[in-house]
Amino acid sequence: MDTGRKLSPVNSIKKQFSVPCGAPKSKFLSVKRLISPFFRFTKLDLQGIRWRFGCIAFPSAVIAERRSQCSDRLLDLALVLIERTRRTPVPAVLMERGVPEWINRWPGEHYRLLTALVQELAPQRVVEIGTFTGMSSMAITAALPAAGRLTTFDIMHWSEIAKAQGGANSEPTCFRAEDFTTGTVTQVVADLADLRTAQAYAEVLRNAEFIFVDGPKDGVFERRLLDNFRVIGLHAGTLLMFDDIRLLNMVEIWDEIDLPKLDLTGFGHFTGTGLVEWQ
Ligand SMILES: C[S@@+](CC[C@H](N)C(=O)[O-])C[C@H]1O[C@@H](n2cnc3c(N)ncnc32)[C@H](O)[C@@H]1O
Repeated sequence: MDTGRKLSPVNSIKKQFSVPCGAPKSKFLSVKRLISPFFRFTKLDLQGIRWRFGCIAFPSAVIAERRSQCSDRLLDLALVLIERTRRTPVPAVLMERGVPEWINRWPGEHYRLLTALVQELAPQRVVEIGTFTGMSSMAITAALPAAGRLTTFDIMHWSEIAKAQGGANSEPTCFRAEDFTTGTVTQVVADLADLRTAQAYAEVLRNAEFIFVDGPKDGVFERRLLDNFRVIGLHAGTLLMFDDIRLLNMVEIWDEIDLPKLDLTGFGHFTGTGLVEWQ
Protein backbone atom coordinates (compact mmCIF):
# COMPACT_ATOMS: atom_id res chain seq x y z
CA MET A 1 0.00 0.00 0.00
CA ASP A 2 1.38 3.40 -0.92
CA THR A 3 0.85 5.61 2.10
CA GLY A 4 1.96 8.67 0.12
CA ARG A 5 4.72 9.31 2.65
CA LYS A 6 8.06 10.25 1.11
CA LEU A 7 10.98 8.20 2.29
CA SER A 8 14.03 10.05 3.54
CA PRO A 9 17.09 9.59 1.24
CA VAL A 10 18.64 7.22 3.79
CA ASN A 11 15.50 5.09 4.06
CA SER A 12 14.97 4.99 0.31
CA ILE A 13 18.54 3.72 -0.17
CA LYS A 14 17.99 1.18 2.60
CA LYS A 15 14.81 0.05 0.90
CA GLN A 16 16.52 -0.43 -2.45
CA PHE A 17 19.47 -2.38 -1.12
CA SER A 18 18.14 -4.55 1.66
CA VAL A 19 15.87 -7.55 1.83
CA PRO A 20 13.50 -6.57 4.62
CA CYS A 21 12.69 -9.16 7.30
CA GLY A 22 9.10 -10.33 7.05
CA ALA A 23 8.72 -9.01 3.49
CA PRO A 24 8.21 -11.36 0.51
CA LYS A 25 11.41 -13.32 0.12
CA SER A 26 10.87 -14.48 -3.44
CA LYS A 27 14.03 -12.95 -4.93
CA PHE A 28 16.19 -14.23 -2.14
CA LEU A 29 14.58 -17.66 -2.25
CA SER A 30 15.08 -18.04 -5.99
CA VAL A 31 18.78 -17.14 -5.64
CA LYS A 32 18.99 -19.58 -2.75
CA ARG A 33 17.34 -22.32 -4.83
CA LEU A 34 19.77 -21.66 -7.66
CA ILE A 35 22.95 -21.84 -5.62
CA SER A 36 21.99 -24.32 -2.89
CA PRO A 37 22.99 -27.48 -4.93
CA PHE A 38 26.56 -26.17 -4.93
CA PHE A 39 26.56 -25.82 -1.15
CA ARG A 40 24.55 -28.95 -0.28
CA PHE A 41 27.51 -30.65 1.35
CA THR A 42 28.91 -27.62 3.17
CA LYS A 43 27.83 -25.95 6.39
CA LEU A 44 27.59 -22.58 4.69
CA ASP A 45 24.92 -20.48 6.34
CA LEU A 46 22.97 -18.81 3.56
CA GLN A 47 20.77 -17.01 6.05
CA GLY A 48 23.90 -15.54 7.60
CA ILE A 49 25.18 -14.44 4.21
CA ARG A 50 21.88 -12.71 3.52
CA TRP A 51 21.98 -10.91 6.88
CA ARG A 52 25.56 -9.76 6.37
CA PHE A 53 24.89 -8.65 2.82
CA GLY A 54 22.00 -6.55 4.11
CA CYS A 55 24.31 -4.85 6.60
CA ILE A 56 27.05 -4.15 4.09
CA ALA A 57 24.87 -2.96 1.25
CA PHE A 58 23.27 -0.09 3.12
CA PRO A 59 26.34 1.85 4.26
CA SER A 60 28.22 1.24 1.02
CA ALA A 61 25.29 2.69 -0.92
CA VAL A 62 25.41 5.82 1.22
CA ILE A 63 29.16 6.13 0.79
CA ALA A 64 28.82 5.69 -2.97
CA GLU A 65 26.25 8.47 -3.06
CA ARG A 66 28.52 10.88 -1.18
CA ARG A 67 31.59 10.05 -3.26
CA SER A 68 29.77 10.80 -6.45
CA GLN A 69 29.47 14.43 -5.38
CA CYS A 70 33.09 15.26 -6.08
CA SER A 71 34.16 16.60 -9.48
CA ASP A 72 37.30 15.88 -11.47
CA ARG A 73 38.23 19.53 -11.17
CA LEU A 74 38.14 19.40 -7.36
CA LEU A 75 40.12 16.17 -7.27
CA ASP A 76 42.76 17.55 -9.65
CA LEU A 77 42.92 20.78 -7.66
CA ALA A 78 43.28 18.92 -4.37
CA LEU A 79 46.26 16.94 -5.68
CA VAL A 80 47.99 20.09 -6.90
CA LEU A 81 47.18 21.94 -3.67
CA ILE A 82 48.59 19.26 -1.40
CA GLU A 83 51.83 19.35 -3.33
CA ARG A 84 51.94 23.15 -3.46
CA THR A 85 50.95 23.75 0.17
CA ARG A 86 53.73 21.45 1.31
CA ARG A 87 56.34 23.84 -0.09
CA THR A 88 54.47 27.10 0.64
CA PRO A 89 55.25 28.80 3.94
CA VAL A 90 52.93 31.37 5.45
CA PRO A 91 53.71 34.69 3.70
CA ALA A 92 56.52 36.59 5.43
CA VAL A 93 54.33 39.66 5.93
CA LEU A 94 52.18 37.69 8.38
CA MET A 95 55.14 36.64 10.50
CA GLU A 96 56.41 40.23 10.46
CA ARG A 97 53.11 41.31 11.92
CA GLY A 98 53.50 39.10 14.93
CA VAL A 99 51.03 36.30 14.26
CA PRO A 100 51.30 33.21 16.47
CA GLU A 101 53.70 30.51 15.34
CA TRP A 102 50.90 27.89 14.99
CA ILE A 103 49.60 29.53 11.84
CA ASN A 104 52.49 27.80 10.05
CA ARG A 105 51.22 24.35 11.01
CA TRP A 106 50.07 22.26 8.11
CA PRO A 107 48.19 19.97 7.96
CA GLY A 108 46.21 21.19 10.93
CA GLU A 109 45.82 24.87 10.09
CA HIS A 110 44.65 26.19 6.74
CA TYR A 111 46.63 29.39 6.21
CA ARG A 112 49.32 27.83 4.03
CA LEU A 113 46.60 26.04 2.08
CA LEU A 114 44.84 29.36 1.50
CA THR A 115 48.03 30.97 0.19
CA ALA A 116 48.75 27.97 -2.03
CA LEU A 117 45.18 27.95 -3.35
CA VAL A 118 45.32 31.63 -4.32
CA GLN A 119 48.73 31.14 -5.94
CA GLU A 120 47.30 28.24 -7.92
CA LEU A 121 44.09 29.97 -9.05
CA ALA A 122 45.69 33.40 -9.58
CA PRO A 123 42.24 34.97 -9.28
CA GLN A 124 41.50 38.59 -10.12
CA ARG A 125 38.72 38.78 -7.53
CA VAL A 126 38.42 37.04 -4.17
CA VAL A 127 35.77 37.41 -1.46
CA GLU A 128 36.25 36.49 2.17
CA ILE A 129 33.46 36.27 4.74
CA GLY A 130 34.81 36.73 8.26
CA THR A 131 37.66 39.26 8.43
CA PHE A 132 38.44 38.98 12.14
CA THR A 133 42.10 39.87 12.80
CA GLY A 134 43.07 39.64 9.14
CA MET A 135 45.21 36.49 9.26
CA SER A 136 43.37 34.81 6.40
CA SER A 137 42.99 38.13 4.55
CA MET A 138 46.78 38.54 4.59
CA ALA A 139 47.36 34.89 3.65
CA ILE A 140 45.16 35.55 0.60
CA THR A 141 46.34 39.02 -0.45
CA ALA A 142 50.03 38.08 -0.25
CA ALA A 143 49.40 35.48 -2.97
CA LEU A 144 47.17 37.52 -5.30
CA PRO A 145 48.42 38.45 -8.77
CA ALA A 146 49.36 42.12 -9.25
CA ALA A 147 45.86 43.26 -10.23
CA GLY A 148 44.08 40.87 -7.84
CA ARG A 149 41.64 42.24 -5.27
CA LEU A 150 40.19 40.89 -2.03
CA THR A 151 36.89 42.08 -0.56
CA THR A 152 36.50 40.89 3.01
CA PHE A 153 33.11 41.03 4.74
CA ASP A 154 32.48 41.18 8.48
CA ILE A 155 29.81 42.59 10.73
CA MET A 156 32.55 44.47 12.63
CA HIS A 157 35.07 46.94 11.28
CA TRP A 158 38.62 45.58 11.44
CA SER A 159 39.68 48.40 13.80
CA GLU A 160 36.83 47.57 16.21
CA ILE A 161 37.88 43.93 16.14
CA ALA A 162 41.46 45.04 16.86
CA LYS A 163 40.25 47.03 19.88
CA ALA A 164 38.18 44.12 21.13
CA GLN A 165 41.02 41.63 20.64
CA GLY A 166 43.90 43.79 21.88
CA GLY A 167 45.49 42.47 25.00
CA ALA A 168 48.83 42.67 26.71
CA ASN A 169 50.04 39.39 25.23
CA SER A 170 48.53 39.29 21.79
CA GLU A 171 48.68 41.29 18.61
CA PRO A 172 45.15 42.61 18.15
CA THR A 173 45.22 42.60 14.32
CA CYS A 174 47.42 41.87 11.34
CA PHE A 175 46.12 44.92 9.53
CA ARG A 176 47.66 48.35 9.32
CA ALA A 177 45.61 51.31 8.12
CA GLU A 178 47.85 51.62 5.03
CA ASP A 179 46.80 48.12 3.88
CA PHE A 180 43.48 49.63 2.86
CA THR A 181 44.94 52.48 0.80
CA THR A 182 46.25 50.46 -2.16
CA GLY A 183 42.93 48.92 -3.21
CA THR A 184 44.25 45.36 -2.90
CA VAL A 185 42.06 44.71 0.12
CA THR A 186 38.74 46.34 0.94
CA GLN A 187 36.69 45.63 4.03
CA VAL A 188 32.91 45.80 3.85
CA VAL A 189 30.94 45.86 7.09
CA ALA A 190 27.76 44.04 6.14
CA ASP A 191 25.76 40.94 6.93
CA LEU A 192 25.38 38.77 3.84
CA ALA A 193 22.80 36.61 5.59
CA ASP A 194 20.40 39.43 4.77
CA LEU A 195 19.10 38.98 1.22
CA ARG A 196 18.89 42.67 0.42
CA THR A 197 22.48 43.16 1.58
CA ALA A 198 23.61 40.21 -0.52
CA GLN A 199 21.76 41.68 -3.51
CA ALA A 200 23.47 45.03 -2.92
CA TYR A 201 26.86 43.26 -3.21
CA ALA A 202 25.77 40.85 -5.93
CA GLU A 203 28.34 42.18 -8.42
CA VAL A 204 31.20 41.72 -5.95
CA LEU A 205 30.03 38.19 -5.14
CA ARG A 206 29.41 37.22 -8.75
CA ASN A 207 32.81 38.52 -9.84
CA ALA A 208 34.65 36.44 -7.28
CA GLU A 209 36.50 33.44 -8.63
CA PHE A 210 37.17 32.26 -5.09
CA ILE A 211 35.07 32.78 -1.94
CA PHE A 212 36.44 31.87 1.49
CA VAL A 213 33.60 31.37 3.99
CA ASP A 214 34.78 31.76 7.59
CA GLY A 215 31.87 33.50 9.33
CA PRO A 216 30.06 32.80 12.60
CA LYS A 217 29.20 29.10 12.09
CA ASP A 218 26.13 29.58 14.26
CA GLY A 219 23.99 27.04 12.45
CA VAL A 220 22.03 29.76 10.66
CA PHE A 221 24.32 32.18 8.84
CA GLU A 222 25.99 29.78 6.41
CA ARG A 223 22.67 28.24 5.34
CA ARG A 224 21.22 31.68 4.64
CA LEU A 225 24.37 32.72 2.85
CA LEU A 226 24.08 29.73 0.53
CA ASP A 227 20.41 30.52 -0.09
CA ASN A 228 21.37 34.09 -0.97
CA PHE A 229 24.13 32.90 -3.28
CA ARG A 230 21.49 30.85 -5.10
CA VAL A 231 19.18 33.86 -5.41
CA ILE A 232 21.83 36.21 -6.78
CA GLY A 233 23.41 33.42 -8.85
CA LEU A 234 27.15 32.97 -8.58
CA HIS A 235 29.02 32.08 -11.76
CA ALA A 236 29.40 28.40 -12.53
CA GLY A 237 32.89 27.31 -11.61
CA THR A 238 33.29 29.71 -8.68
CA LEU A 239 35.32 27.92 -6.04
CA LEU A 240 34.22 28.15 -2.41
CA MET A 241 36.18 27.08 0.64
CA PHE A 242 34.26 26.55 3.89
CA ASP A 243 36.16 26.60 7.15
CA ASP A 244 35.17 24.49 10.17
CA ILE A 245 32.88 22.06 8.35
CA ARG A 246 33.48 19.44 11.06
CA LEU A 247 32.12 21.68 13.82
CA LEU A 248 28.74 20.43 15.03
CA ASN A 249 26.92 23.52 13.76
CA MET A 250 28.38 23.00 10.31
CA VAL A 251 28.11 19.24 9.79
CA GLU A 252 24.52 19.31 8.55
CA ILE A 253 24.98 22.43 6.45
CA TRP A 254 28.00 20.88 4.75
CA ASP A 255 26.08 17.64 4.25
CA GLU A 256 23.19 19.49 2.61
CA ILE A 257 25.33 21.21 -0.02
CA ASP A 258 24.17 19.60 -3.22
CA LEU A 259 27.08 20.65 -5.44
CA PRO A 260 30.41 19.07 -6.33
CA LYS A 261 32.34 19.20 -3.07
CA LEU A 262 35.38 17.73 -1.40
CA ASP A 263 36.16 17.44 2.30
CA LEU A 264 39.85 18.38 2.46
CA THR A 265 40.09 18.40 6.26
CA GLY A 266 43.08 16.06 6.37
CA PHE A 267 45.03 18.60 4.33
CA GLY A 268 43.53 21.74 5.82
CA HIS A 269 42.14 22.95 9.12
CA PHE A 270 41.66 20.24 11.77
CA THR A 271 38.16 21.61 12.47
CA GLY A 272 37.21 21.06 8.86
CA THR A 273 38.02 22.42 5.42
CA GLY A 274 35.61 21.91 2.54
CA LEU A 275 35.90 22.84 -1.12
CA VAL A 276 32.81 23.44 -3.24
CA GLU A 277 32.50 24.04 -6.96
CA TRP A 278 29.52 26.27 -7.68
CA GLN A 279 27.25 25.17 -10.51
C1 LIG B 1 36.51 32.73 12.78
S1 LIG B 1 36.46 34.43 12.59
C2 LIG B 1 37.23 34.69 11.03
C3 LIG B 1 38.70 34.36 11.09
C4 LIG B 1 39.49 34.86 9.91
N1 LIG B 1 38.92 34.47 8.66
C5 LIG B 1 40.89 34.33 10.00
O1 LIG B 1 41.15 33.18 9.60
O2 LIG B 1 41.76 35.03 10.48
C6 LIG B 1 34.78 34.74 12.29
C7 LIG B 1 34.45 36.18 11.95
O3 LIG B 1 33.14 36.18 11.43
C8 LIG B 1 32.55 37.40 11.78
N2 LIG B 1 31.10 37.34 11.60
C9 LIG B 1 30.15 37.00 12.50
N3 LIG B 1 28.93 37.11 11.93
C10 LIG B 1 29.14 37.50 10.66
C11 LIG B 1 28.29 37.79 9.55
N4 LIG B 1 26.97 37.67 9.66
N5 LIG B 1 28.85 38.18 8.38
C12 LIG B 1 30.19 38.26 8.25
N6 LIG B 1 31.05 38.02 9.26
C13 LIG B 1 30.52 37.65 10.44
C14 LIG B 1 33.01 37.63 13.21
O4 LIG B 1 32.87 39.02 13.54
C15 LIG B 1 34.45 37.16 13.13
O5 LIG B 1 35.30 38.24 12.87
